[in-house]
Amino acid sequence: MNNFLNQLRVPSRFEQADNAFWQNPYIAKQLLKAHLNSDNEGASRSFSFIDKSIDFIQQIAPQKSYQKVLDLGCGPGLYCERLAKKNYTVTGIDFSENSIRYAQEQAKKLNFDIDYRYENYMELNDSNNYDLALLIYCDYGALAPVDRSKLLFNIWNSLKNGGQLLLDVFSQNKFDQFKEEQYWSLNENGGFWSKDSYVAIGRNLKYPDRVTLEQTTVVTKDKMETYNIWHQYFTKELLIKEVTAVGFTVKEIYDDVSGQTGNGGSETIALLLEK
Ligand SMILES: C[S@@+](CC[C@H](N)C(=O)[O-])C[C@H]1O[C@@H](n2cnc3c(N)ncnc32)[C@H](O)[C@@H]1O
Repeated sequence: MNNFLNQLRVPSRFEQADNAFWQNPYIAKQLLKAHLNSDNEGASRSFSFIDKSIDFIQQIAPQKSYQKVLDLGCGPGLYCERLAKKNYTVTGIDFSENSIRYAQEQAKKLNFDIDYRYENYMELNDSNNYDLALLIYCDYGALAPVDRSKLLFNIWNSLKNGGQLLLDVFSQNKFDQFKEEQYWSLNENGGFWSKDSYVAIGRNLKYPDRVTLEQTTVVTKDKMETYNIWHQYFTKELLIKEVTAVGFTVKEIYDDVSGQTGNGGSETIALLLEK
């Protein structure tokens, strides 16, 4: 009972639970299904949005001048494949073994020469190598401040001089829409969190300074596991402060990574940065 109450206590900001959401083998299979279902925007955006985003990337970083692209957190390669089709030389990094294996098999089938690496991008150690880096679907805001600056520095280091980074984050609007709640559900035939029957106890919490926690505790017959998903939401000012601290120059600000602008209610902010 003590352990149960301990799992349900309110964690401090960006405290990691013992369980890795993206890397749990069973959950990774559910996430791959979500990536590959264009109607499910849980893991990747819709394919029509991704296509628009690729058109936009070609405008801001034409292949002739920005040949070598690094996609950080590439998942099953939805962006990598489309970029390879446009003749970019593509490297994709992800620490979901399941997604990287799928991406490699697809590349082989479709005859794309994409360098997929099963790696933690926090350990990225490439230097002066890429013309363009992508960090797409608000992964930056899932990190604690110290990890954000480490990752940005690693990306900066991996780019050639004049190289660009396109990234997106959730905005203040998205934070305002976030609803605090607590809930539970009984999943007798298994579901997203486990193949066995389980009870999920969930809690969505808002913290000061635009941070949220989506916490799920999964209780099966044999064990109890808690997953913490954190998000920092940004104002333009905060984001610009963080990226310029590492040495990037802000080239453009958009509402999203398809290049939309002028929508005051956008749920995201996208930045095009230059080394
Ligand atoms: C929200 S999904 C976005 C996938 C892809 N960028 C897209 O938009 O289709 C986040 C991806 O980042 C990966 N990821 C998260 N943290 C990572 C890390 N530290 N190193 C490598 N990959 C990571 C996850 O495994 C997952 O595939």
